[in-house]
Amino acid sequence: MAVRRRLAYLAAVLTLLAGSGFAVDRWVWAPAMISTAGAGFDRPLPIPPLAPSHRDRHGRRVYDLRAQAGEHDFGAGPVRTEGFDGSYLGPTLRMARGEQVLVDVHDDLPEPTSVHWHGMRVPAAADGGPHQLIAPGSSWSASWRVDQPAATLWYHPHPHGATAQQVYRGLAGMIIVDDPATGSPALPHEYGVDDIPVIVQDKRFTADGRLDAANAPLAGIGLLGDTVAVNGVTGPFLPVVTRRVRLRLLNASNARTYDFGLTDGRRFALVGTDGGLLEAPVRLRRIMLSPGERAEIVVDLDPGRTEVLRSFPHPLGAGRLGDRFVGGDDTLDILQLRPAPVLRPGPDLPAVLAPLPLLTRDRAARTREFHLDDDAINGLPMDMDRVDARPIAGSTEIWRVVNDDGIPHNFHVHGVQFQVLTVAGAAPPPQLRGWKDTVFLPPGRPVELIMQFPRHPGPGVYMFHCHLLYHEDSGMMGQYAVIDPGS
Ligand code: C2O
Ligand code: CU
Ligand code: CU
Repeated sequence: MAVRRRLAYLAAVLTLLAGSGFAVDRWVWAPAMISTAGAGFDRPLPIPPLAPSHRDRHGRRVYDLRAQAGEHDFGAGPVRTEGFDGSYLGPTLRMARGEQVLVDVHDDLPEPTSVHWHGMRVPAAADGGPHQLIAPGSSWSASWRVDQPAATLWYHPHPHGATAQQVYRGLAGMIIVDDPATGSPALPHEYGVDDIPVIVQDKRFTADGRLDAANAPLAGIGLLGDTVAVNGVTGPFLPVVTRRVRLRLLNASNARTYDFGLTDGRRFALVGTDGGLLEAPVRLRRIMLSPGERAEIVVDLDPGRTEVLRSFPHPLGAGRLGDRFVGGDDTLDILQLRPAPVLRPGPDLPAVLAPLPLLTRDRAARTREFHLDDDAINGLPMDMDRVDARPIAGSTEIWRVVNDDGIPHNFHVHGVQFQVLTVAGAAPPPQLRGWKDTVFLPPGRPVELIMQFPRHPGPGVYMFHCHLLYHEDSGMMGQYAVIDPGS
């Protein structure tokens, strides 16, 4: 059934049931809202290790990643999971702009996988999408030259039809790109001390304690959990020893959108979005992230005074009834920050962070339209043998993306970082004024994205898709190939 019609159908059914005396509120409406506020924080936040690397004789920085099955304890005993170089999640790949990197990926899983570098500018053949499948027991290598601003990116599998399940079982990790020219040295930058990866995922467990991978009933958006794991544990706290802490927030959830803020209402500084730092810090009380999106925020702390990062209820555009079933009414505690009684001072937040060259409308060679609806884009479900767009290498285009469905989606483009020109015809809010590769797409609010395609993509295709993984797996994905100017 078309996802759009699912919520309308749901509304009709609920009305009917209510009319027939069925306790809709007690059985359907009330349980669809989740709150973990005040559940408590009793586990130290684990920090994913930095992936070891070595230089090969060509001067490349080489990493090894092994996708494997294992057992992991989120907090209530061991469950079957998967991870890279461990049983859940993976190490953080840290790399510097300008260096040539090579990642050797080995598949120790009982099924094929792939590893995609989300947000990274890489040649199409190294992108790790559904065309670069790794068979069980075999390896695949991807190599590229890091050429983009300092940013928080991530990696995860991308085998068509199986991405949701593999990511849910734990296959994901962070990538940090360093670049002195675009990464402000005045920002907190000591990994695991005042510069903290915060990988947020919602989980659900079965009565006998296994990971529950079933989709949420009714809503049509896939898997929504009732428990939040951060870096793989529930109820995490972070001991803080510095006045300021930088949180690299990554929404690595399957379908859930979060609206992060601090429970005492204080503002934080948003310093970076998906693809790099903003031109200047923006003071905000909330930052909303849909699946796949990242935000770097800096929080100012008072000595000895704990703070809680929470996700608050927020409209998702599916209407008052619909929002409840897609997670919009939920309140989820994410992370407690526990500052020491005495905090190490650090430099003030700089007024200017990084240069942000604007892509302006007049540079665009053409505009394309993409309509998301019913497990398809422009009416066509994903087909690995079909190329939907052929932009010219190095050219700039505007992509106008519209959600024609009744439920929330988002939109992610591989191979590029884009800028948001407009949201529903208006200038974007400050949190959408930096480099982005994924953008939230509520029903009926078109976004215009502007992007410049790689100059040297090599052969192969890049994906664009909804990053609600169930939708992506169900066909809300397309492919583009970058072609030579002469062809
Ligand atoms: Cu994060 Cu096509 O993926
Ligand atoms: Cu991607
Ligand atoms: Cu979607």
